[in-house]
Amino acid sequence: MSRVAVFPGSFDPMTMAHLDVARRAAALFDRLVIGVLHNPKKSPVFDIDERVAMIRASVADFDANVQVEAFDGLTVVFAERNEASFIVRGLRAVSDFEAELQMAHTNRKLQRGVDTVFLMSALEFGYLSSTLAKEVAQFGGDVSGMVPPPVAAALAARFAS
Ligand code: PNS
Repeated sequence: MSRVAVFPGSFDPMTMAHLDVARRAAALFDRLVIGVLHNPKKSPVFDIDERVAMIRASVADFDANVQVEAFDGLTVVFAERNEASFIVRGLRAVSDFEAELQMAHTNRKLQRGVDTVFLMSALEFGYLSSTLAKEVAQFGGDVSGMVPPPVAAALAARFAS
């Protein structure tokens, strides 16, 4: 039996914390599909194609069992479409837990065949968020070590002016 998981998120942009979770999840599952949410109600810094491209470049050295796809709508539908029985999410701190618990229960209510699996973020990335990385880059700070190199380059280009 092949174990397939999706790793959904906004990824605006992907951070080292996300990358670390993706790497560890890829080792746990036969196939991992990183799902980049296209939410027309939000105004991300990077559009959906840019976010997908940056993640693909960031996971280029991963095993071939990792794919990156855009999706819209419900995560459980995205999971079903990929024949995935698991949703992977990273937990940085207790503060993440409440919202993640609510999402996990909602997803289970929507689709009993899909379970959420949490991976604790690596200790060194516990402070990181996409929002913080964008803020640091916006004010000219050094984001290397916070985001994968393709993302650091994209942030530098975006905020160059
Ligand atoms: O990176 P984020 O913003 O924390 O990811 C949140 C995400 C994309 C996992 C969540 O908002 C989501 O699953 N959105 C899709 C809509 C959905 O399925 N909603 C019901 C379950 S919460």
